[in-house]
Amino acid sequence: AFLDLVGFAASTAHRGIRHIRVPTTTLSQGDGGVGVKNGVNYFGKKNWVGTFTIPFAIINDLNFIRTLADGAKRDGIIEGIKVALIRDRGFFEDIEKNAAALASLDEDALEMVILRSAEQHVDHIATAGDPFELGSARPLDFGHWVAHKLEQISGFSIGHGEAVAIGMAVDLLYSVRKGILAEETCERVLALIEGVGFALYADELLRRDDAGQWAILRGLEEFREHLGGELTVTLVPAIGEKLEVHEMDVQLVLEALHELDR
Ligand SMILES: NC(=O)c1ccc[n+]([C@@H]2O[C@H](COP(=O)([O-])OP(=O)(O)OC[C@H]3O[C@@H](n4cnc5c(N)ncnc54)[C@H](O)[C@@H]3O)[C@@H](O)[C@H]2O)c1
Ligand SMILES: [Zn+2]
Repeated sequence: AFLDLVGFAASTAHRGIRHIRVPTTTLSQGDGGVGVKNGVNYFGKKNWVGTFTIPFAIINDLNFIRTLADGAKRDGIIEGIKVALIRDRGFFEDIEKNAAALASLDEDALEMVILRSAEQHVDHIATAGDPFELGSARPLDFGHWVAHKLEQISGFSIGHGEAVAIGMAVDLLYSVRKGILAEETCERVLALIEGVGFALYADELLRRDDAGQWAILRGLEEFREHLGGELTVTLVPAIGEKLEVHEMDVQLVLEALHELDR
């Protein structure tokens, strides 16, 4: 978050000061810090203010992760699992092989995930044809429509990594119900997410808003607004593959939410 704030300030002051990023968390070294975006929460919304800015350079020094709290060490693993799910089956399998080491936050295993996650994120941004997200498809945001809303509902007490774990669980269970994903593949992915130490559920997922509606469902409309046009949600039909859909069956989303509350 600090990196996003400084990146935003640097990209607007004097119409943009060149800046060099030095990410110091697993999340930022593997994902946020190596991208082209910065975002600051505003109006109580996730990333409402921000810019697309290419950093002059990025320095990923893995020594920084040694001093992180356990939660912050673990957070980056989830974005590794995310990017593996949408585009790199081999990476997913390597994370599976290292699940026990990752659960205990082993340094070598974490470094493997951070480096490959960073590579995959950069490769996607550089080669997928839409680095500045002019279209509505944002595959790197798999699981994020729930995640962003969940962070907000919790008053940001649920961190980004924890929220993405839950958000992916919702979209995976939804996909099984929708007939997009095999149940055994879903169970395999959920086992990995839990196996490396993430919870798949938080009470905030089933919170009602003042009007008595499920608060999390507002996340779909806010995600569409954030995309600036058509709703596009990336789902995972098989490990290493992605599928874009333009509508979500709210009834099936609710079923997925309730299934996690067990
Ligand atoms: N811009 C993007 O494309 C993008 C992508 C993914 C995530 N994000 C956002 O990034 C945010 C998370 O930010 P972050 O991961 O940079 O963390 P952060 O800046 O919020 O820091 C997390 C905590 O760790 C501490 N800390 C940081 N480095 C440390 C170190 N080396 N040793 C000890 N303590 C350290 C910080 O003081 C803070 O308390 C989320 O809100 C997420 O939404 C942005
Ligand atoms: Zn994320």
